[in-house]
Amino acid sequence: MKNVAIFASGNGSNYEKIMEHIQAGQLTNINVVGLYTDKREAYAIERAKRFGTPVHLFELSQFEHKTAYEQAILAQLKKDAVEWIILAGYMKLVGPTLLDVYEGRMLNIHPSLLPSFPGKDAVGQALRYGVRVTGATVHYVDSGMDTGTIIDQMSCPILEDDTQASLQLRVQNLEYELYPRVIKKIIQ
Ligand code: GRF
Repeated sequence: MKNVAIFASGNGSNYEKIMEHIQAGQLTNINVVGLYTDKREAYAIERAKRFGTPVHLFELSQFEHKTAYEQAILAQLKKDAVEWIILAGYMKLVGPTLLDVYEGRMLNIHPSLLPSFPGKDAVGQALRYGVRVTGATVHYVDSGMDTGTIIDQMSCPILEDDTQASLQLRVQNLEYELYPRVIKKIIQ
């Protein structure tokens, strides 16, 4: 059983799905020791309270620079004896301070078939571009924007009458299946 921290900046639905898998006895290899967030308004915080996961808030604006921000995070990760980091809607590039310690032990999920549509609004990008197939990707985190080695993907069609909302829902449902599956396989 590995100690993991989940990083989330927003809604936190992927965090919640992971917790549900743990509670259902379907994910027995991880122990979620903290929900780390950079946004005090993140709804993920409410979800973490419901599951009893300790919350750690680190706001970049409270630090002189990103290195100091990541050093503070690193200190808490050490206190929590965190072995793996799971990014779940963490909306910042990870800098060298965290990567030096956790590269190869940090996962991210992205709502497209990478390397297509990295960055923000991947679902909207796919819709506007007009591709017929999209999906979700779990990858290792490196210093780039959604550029790390791909671990696994799931795909779905884009239908004629899809809207941002309908496609987002389809992709999200892939994510909820894909992330726990990869976490189970990769974190050992
Ligand atoms: C997900 O679509 C994930 O792929 C992306 O950010 C979104 C987070 O959603 N990195 P949520 O906060 O887990 O609901």
